[in-house]
Amino acid sequence: MNLNPSPWWQSSVVYQIYPRSFCDSNGDGIGDLPGITSKLDYLKTLGVDIVWLSPIYQSPNDDNGYDISDYRAIMPEFGTMQDFEHMLEQMHARGIRLMMDLVVNHTSDEHEWFRQARLSRDNPYHDFYIWADPVEGREPNHPTNWEAAFNGSVWEWNEPTGEYFLHMFSKRQPDLNWENPRVRREVHNLMRFWLDKGVDGFRMDVINMISKPWQPDGTLPDAPRVRPGFLQPGFGMSLNGPRLQDFLLEMKQEVLRHYDCVTVGEAPGATTELARVITDREQGALDMLFQFEHMHLDAQPGQSKWHLKALDLSDLKVTLSRWQDDLAESGWNSLYLNNHDQPRSLSRFGCDGQYRVESAKMLATLIHGMKGTPYVYQGEELGMTNFPFQSIEECQDIETLNMYADAVTGRGIDRAEVMQAVRAKGRDNSRTPMQWTTAPHGGFSTGIPWLAVNPNFTEINAAAAVADEESVYHYYRSLIELRREMPVLVHGQYALLDAENPDVYVYARALGDERLLVICNFRAREATIATPSDIVGRAYRRVLGNWPERSRDASQTLALRPFEALMLHARVTD
Ligand code: NOJ
Repeated sequence: MNLNPSPWWQSSVVYQIYPRSFCDSNGDGIGDLPGITSKLDYLKTLGVDIVWLSPIYQSPNDDNGYDISDYRAIMPEFGTMQDFEHMLEQMHARGIRLMMDLVVNHTSDEHEWFRQARLSRDNPYHDFYIWADPVEGREPNHPTNWEAAFNGSVWEWNEPTGEYFLHMFSKRQPDLNWENPRVRREVHNLMRFWLDKGVDGFRMDVINMISKPWQPDGTLPDAPRVRPGFLQPGFGMSLNGPRLQDFLLEMKQEVLRHYDCVTVGEAPGATTELARVITDREQGALDMLFQFEHMHLDAQPGQSKWHLKALDLSDLKVTLSRWQDDLAESGWNSLYLNNHDQPRSLSRFGCDGQYRVESAKMLATLIHGMKGTPYVYQGEELGMTNFPFQSIEECQDIETLNMYADAVTGRGIDRAEVMQAVRAKGRDNSRTPMQWTTAPHGGFSTGIPWLAVNPNFTEINAAAAVADEESVYHYYRSLIELRREMPVLVHGQYALLDAENPDVYVYARALGDERLLVICNFRAREATIATPSDIVGRAYRRVLGNWPERSRDASQTLALRPFEALMLHARVTD
C-alpha cells in the first residue's frame, strides 16, 4: 500500500551527467565541475529536477572514475571541493537536486584500504577485501572459474600475502568484503559525509553485487559450465546475494532514513520480485532500481551484449509491461534507455539517419509516458547518435578494449566483425563529448578532447537545438513539463494495448476518468493500429506528437507516419 503524499522523486525527471564529457572549462580536454556549473541554466530551461552525477571522486581512472581511490576527495581533473560546493549551491539555487554516484562494491587498487590490505594477512585492512588461497591440484589454481565483467579471471594474484583477491570488474577494482562490519561502517560514514554537505541522494553502482554467495566452508562456488575452457561467465554469480537485503536495510536504518534523499540502485539481473521488495515504500531499502532486462533484448539469448541481434518489438513490450505491471502496487520503476554504459538509444532502437529527430522523439515519448521516474542521459535531449568508430584506436573504454583484445588476439575473431559490435554496443558511443555549438570540438573544450567529438556536431548541437522550436530538445522540455502538469503521467495505471501489433507500441495510463494514450511507431514507414476503445467516438485531445497535427477521423484504425509518436488525452465520464 502506498503512503501519502507521494515523495518528490516520483514526479521528478533525472538528468545524468558524465562529467568527463559534459563541459570543459579550462581547456585540458576533460569536462569539469566549473563546466557543469556554467551549464546549469541550460538544465534549468530543460526543466529537469535532479542531476545524477557520475563519479567525481579521486581515481586513477582505470574505469573513468568507477575505481575510487578516495571517497572524500574530488578528482583534480574535475576541480576542487570549493568547485563542488559552488556547483551544489548553484544547483540548489535553481531548484535542482543532486544525486551522487556511490561506488562501493569495489574500490580502486590505489585506495588506502587496499594498499594496506595487500601488505600482509594480518594488516587491519586485509579483511576489507575478498581473499582466497590457490586451489591445489587444479589448473589454473584459481579459487573459482568466474570470468570478470571486463574479461579475464576475477582473481588476481597478490604476491606479498600469497593469495588471490577478487575483482568482479578490472583487476584494478578489488571487491570490498561487505561481510566485514567495519567496511559497512566506513560506507555509512562516507554517505553521511556527502549527505551532510547537502547532496540529495545516491545512484548506487552495481549495488546488488555486494553480497557474495558464500558457502558454509567459506569458499565461493564455481559458475555453471556453459562453454569450453576454464573461465565461465561469472557476473551472475555475485548478483542478488543472500545478505543483499540485510545490508541495504542496515544502510537505510543507519543513514538513509535520517535524510530526505533519493536512491536508485543499479541492479543488473534484478527481477521484478526483487525490485518489489527492495523498493517497497514502507519495507524496502531503496526508492528505485535500474533493471537491465530491456537492455539485453538486442543480444543473442544467453550471450554477452556483443552478440548482436535485432530488437523484436514484442520482446520490448513484454519486458517493459511486466515491469510496469509487477510494480503497479508496490515499488517504483526507473525509466531509461540511455546511460554512460549503453550505446545511444536512437542509433540502437530508432534511426540515426533520415528520421533522427522523429525517432528520438518517439523513444522519448515511450519512456516518459510510463509510470516511474524518467532518466535523461546527457545529449539524449539533443538526439545525439553513436560514433562512427572505424578502428579500436579511437576507443578508450576498458570494457571495449579488453573485449577486443580477447576476441581478436585471444580468439582470432575477424577485426571487422568485432568493430561492428563495438560500433553497435561500445560504451564510448555515449561518452563522446557533449555537442554544445558549431565551434571546434563542438564547443566542449578549447583543447583536445580526451575522446573525439562526434563529427556530426556541426548539425547536432545544443545551440541549434535550443534555437529550433521543433528540435528534440524542445520536445523533451515539453515531456518534462507535462509530467509536472498531468498527475496521470505520474500516478496513472499502465495497460498495454494492441499487444500483437508488430510495429507499434501502444499503452494507456488511467487515473480516475482520465485516459492518456501513448502511441509509438517503431518503423521507418507508415503503420496502423486499432483505434484504442478509450477514444473511439469520444472527443480527445492531442497532448503531444512528433509530426505536424492532422485531422483524424474516428474510424477503427489509426494511421501513423514513420516513427510517429502521439500522446492523446480523453475523459471517459460518459
Ligand atoms: C556500472 C557502471 O555504470 C559502469 O560504468 C562501471 O564500469 C561498472 N559499474 C563498475 O563500476
